[in-house]
Amino acid sequence: MSGRGPIMIVAGTRPEAIKLAPVFWSLDKLGIDYVFVWSGQHYDYEMSRIFFDQLGLPEPVIDLDVRSGSHVEQTARIMMGLEKAVEKYKPSIVVAQGDTNTVVATALTSTKMLVPFAHVEAGLRSWDRTMPEEINRIIADAIAEIHFAPTELSAINLMHEGIPLRKIHITGNTVVDVVYKYRDYVAKEGEKLLSELSLKPLSYVLVTVHRQENTDNPNRLENIVKALIEISKHYTIVFPAHPRTVNRLQSCGLWSSLASRKNIRILKPLGYFQFLGLLMKCLIVLTDSGGVQEEACTLKIPTLTLRYNTERPETVLVGINKVVGVEAQKIVDEALKTIDMKDTIVANTKSVQNPLGDGRAGERIGKILKEAVEQGIQVETIDSQEDPYITYAILENVFRSSNNSKELLRIGDIVAMYDNNGVAVADPSKARRIVIRLPRTETYKIEGTDQGSSHT
Ligand code: UD1
Ligand code: UDP
Repeated sequence: MSGRGPIMIVAGTRPEAIKLAPVFWSLDKLGIDYVFVWSGQHYDYEMSRIFFDQLGLPEPVIDLDVRSGSHVEQTARIMMGLEKAVEKYKPSIVVAQGDTNTVVATALTSTKMLVPFAHVEAGLRSWDRTMPEEINRIIADAIAEIHFAPTELSAINLMHEGIPLRKIHITGNTVVDVVYKYRDYVAKEGEKLLSELSLKPLSYVLVTVHRQENTDNPNRLENIVKALIEISKHYTIVFPAHPRTVNRLQSCGLWSSLASRKNIRILKPLGYFQFLGLLMKCLIVLTDSGGVQEEACTLKIPTLTLRYNTERPETVLVGINKVVGVEAQKIVDEALKTIDMKDTIVANTKSVQNPLGDGRAGERIGKILKEAVEQGIQVETIDSQEDPYITYAILENVFRSSNNSKELLRIGDIVAMYDNNGVAVADPSKARRIVIRLPRTETYKIEGTDQGSSHT
């Protein structure tokens, strides 16, 4: 099925529209032929088209208009629609970003139709398999032919799930490109919105909540509401609410207790420039969003993550994000403490490099996609008539010279690398010991290594 047709980019939710924008910009710059398919998982103007308009996305060739439904319905409808689109456009590669139902449906459809799938933001893991997003990410990564890992940690996660190094590209996160491109402009947008709301910069706490494990669990949702009410006795809360959250607050009878508070400003979902503008000017942000954790880290805004885990550990390691769970009192205590310590937290991270990227992720992704198309990438297959099965071997001190690394890459696929301390790395220059996957009958001896191995 894989042809030499255009690259097909598939998206369907707010964060995908935002985070794929730099890939579109890059493909445009490189003059590469592509088509854009929108699944329609998000469909309200302020959850979808507003981002096309603000970030300069092209008009989709198809809007599958799948809308809401159970996970199974939504995923299945996307797959059925996408199958027709792939038949029609015969893409050379299909690209999707992130961990939504749109992404898992895209990965499955494209790979089953033998079109290579490329995953932007590959390798993130929360290690929580009750999260729909974790399942979506694991499946998409397991079958992707190209993995655009935003960080070294995400690349290491992929290798430990058996993805060979040659399929992984550490690019940085595309959201950093978007933030860097617009941060000066959105600062003005933020000020405009604040004056409309009669609020001063650095006088409010910004909140976003939409994740299934928080909104669909009435106890958790009530805890969050209690915490917000308590914090609002000290600081104004600005809460642009996801439609899912509004629905659940209403059906759980929690809406009026929140909406009636003078110091809690519930807003409709905001456009990107407005939201980022508010993020830049807030005291701290309370969120369960993935993208907001990343943007806050990039802008050095102290963040409390209202979850028990995060697939963005880099933001925690850098000291700007804290995973605080969803117990009401804990949220309140942490929020008040973090506001008090804000200057110190920000000062401590001032000189630290953004762990999520340098603003050039889209550029790198565009170039790699171009090369893959030129080289005629296919879904991987193997002819094992000569070498009937595959095994794994450990080699030590392998990258002492560049010749060694070339030789190794010829022999087998690197699926793990460890440094002098035995800690996993994704950078060959730091590797002392590697695990390779190779045909069982291959005989090899690497010159200049401590250890040659031989299998017959
Ligand atoms: C989805 C993703 C989540 C991502 C989020 C980004 C999955 C499993 N979840 O969650 O990973 O973080 O998008 O925002 O793919 N709704 C509207 N209008 C819209 C869209 C949604 O009213 O335009 C309401 C509907 O009531 C719908 C609910 O929001 O049932 C949930 O929408 P859905 O796309 O299923 O999941 P999200 O919670 O948005
Ligand atoms: N965002 C926005 N308007 C809002 C809230 C969020 O534009 O009112 C942006 C935010 O800047 C981030 C993205 O939406 O880039 C995050 O989307 P969301 O939290 O819905 O999804 P997640 O990132 O958790 O998948």
